[in-house]
Amino acid sequence: MCGIVGYTGKRAAMPIILEGLKKLEYRGYDSAGISTLHHNELTHVKALGKLIALEEQLAQEPLAGSIGIGHTRWATHGKPSVPNAHPHVVGTTAIVHNGIIENYKSLRTELEAHGSQFLSETDTETVAHLLHVHRRETLLETLFAILPMIRGAYSIAAIDTRDPHTLVCVKQESPLVIGLGKNENFVASDIPALLAHTRDFIFLEDGDVAAITPESVSIYHHGQPVERPIKTVSWSPSAAEKGGYKHFMLKEIHEQPRALRDTLRGKFDGKTLQLSDLALTPQEVASIRRIQLVACGTSWHAGLVGKYYLEQIARIPVEVDIASEYRYRTKVVDSSTLVVPITQSGETADTLAALKDAKREGAKVITVCNVVDSSIVRESHGVLYTNAGPEIGVASTKAFTTQLAALYLLALFIAQEQKRLDSAAIAEHIAQLEALPAVIETVLEREEEYKNFAHTFHDYPNFLFLGRSFNFPIALEGALKLKEISYIHAEGYASGEMKHGPIALIDAQMPVVVVATASAVYDKLVSNVEEVAARDGIVVALVNDADTSWGKKAHTVFRVPEVPEMLSPIVNAVPMQFIAYYVADFKGCDVDQPRNLAKSVTVE
Ligand code: G6P
Repeated sequence: MCGIVGYTGKRAAMPIILEGLKKLEYRGYDSAGISTLHHNELTHVKALGKLIALEEQLAQEPLAGSIGIGHTRWATHGKPSVPNAHPHVVGTTAIVHNGIIENYKSLRTELEAHGSQFLSETDTETVAHLLHVHRRETLLETLFAILPMIRGAYSIAAIDTRDPHTLVCVKQESPLVIGLGKNENFVASDIPALLAHTRDFIFLEDGDVAAITPESVSIYHHGQPVERPIKTVSWSPSAAEKGGYKHFMLKEIHEQPRALRDTLRGKFDGKTLQLSDLALTPQEVASIRRIQLVACGTSWHAGLVGKYYLEQIARIPVEVDIASEYRYRTKVVDSSTLVVPITQSGETADTLAALKDAKREGAKVITVCNVVDSSIVRESHGVLYTNAGPEIGVASTKAFTTQLAALYLLALFIAQEQKRLDSAAIAEHIAQLEALPAVIETVLEREEEYKNFAHTFHDYPNFLFLGRSFNFPIALEGALKLKEISYIHAEGYASGEMKHGPIALIDAQMPVVVVATASAVYDKLVSNVEEVAARDGIVVALVNDADTSWGKKAHTVFRVPEVPEMLSPIVNAVPMQFIAYYVADFKGCDVDQPRNLAKSVTVE
């Protein structure tokens, strides 16, 4: 989720690119850089930290030239550092890149064997070297030549001293738009970067390559010239930042298919699951006898689902702890205990303290995290990144579903290394995981149903959420989402436990959201719902498409496609997010910044 801006025209490129990058800081902000071309020479400046650091440096050493590219980085491969910041310059070419080059390791090995010298740890630099090693007459021809060599999701913009007015770019499963001006043209990963200059855009399609000069834009697909329509955008700058959505939370709900694809990307080569950032030796994985998952808030709910995954797939006993509790209890850990902090931000104070304690007691610590090189990652022995991209809405959405996918991968990995699952079984699990983004796209298409529901129910003072087994934590998460952003009192409960307390609360004023998708405990859950209905509770059921049995039992029925039971929490989380979002929005709440809450809680 990095931000890209490029310019070619008659004006000075640097200030235009810098201003554009500032509008993209929400896409990532751990380092930044700009490269321009002037008098046939490429120059660049890069800086660590937020854009202000780059701006200060550029004030000292401004870049001349009326063509250039810039980048604000959200690290995926290689920690935030100046060498890892973009642009990457090799020979006559400078490039910026957003996305992941899946096969960069093998490309790098090959390039190094033939003498290429790498300066960074990034996947991007392999593309810069490929462009150098395979150079043809023009940058465009070179790009055509190397594209078949790279795999993954990427948008790339590049400039070259041999073609000093042409910006070349490519889009593959990562956003990239061309902005059209008069005697100048632009490229950016998102519209807000360019709104100060133009409202006319070409939205590139996957596989499109473009050559952009101040006077022309030529687009190619599979090497053939193609026409793409010009669209005029009427968004306000603040709506544009949110991709046209009303809130970041809604945008992030919609980003989940992409976020899940990025989390799964490049991990499985058809035979072996490789989680190299875990940095565990085969012996260390073989010796894991116990696992402790430690987290706060929504990440703790991910841990609760993770326990089911790790116990069912890897057959290792798991405890799940709230980090603020774990800190102050006696920890029985040794070198055969794997402690797994789960954290979106990597900065939560309680989770960090819990990790330090566990390490002190001799446990191996690997973190599931969304932010590269965050404090918790730096303290850990290894890491499994979620690659959801920056999450800005305080209520966690895409970070949660990608945490579930990451924990599923972790369970598969341990099972693989401990020889519980063979390669064919792993391949089957991965195929099921890879099918999820399309399923979630179907759920997203049904958004209107949740809006209608919220219109009717946003004034109710209490909600109960019920689930069982893998979906018990989804009931907890549904309740947490609702209370966080709508300030409605909500409780999540294991439906079998309802008779031990919450059933006393049920009356005709109580909406009860039941996660009732196909499962081994489906019949038992249905009996629990009968108990709700018998007490006049308002049943709101989340069921599978094929389940037609809820017409009489439920006031409202939401449907999702059926997936294997273990993966159903990843799908079922999305309706919970929509319910909370639309209820809060109808109530007029500040969805992205709810009262009293913070995105990252760095105090105890
Ligand atoms: C805060 C946020 C939650 C988040 C929790 C843990 O309370 O508002 O959305 O789940 O912190 O954050 P972490 O970054 O460690 O996942």
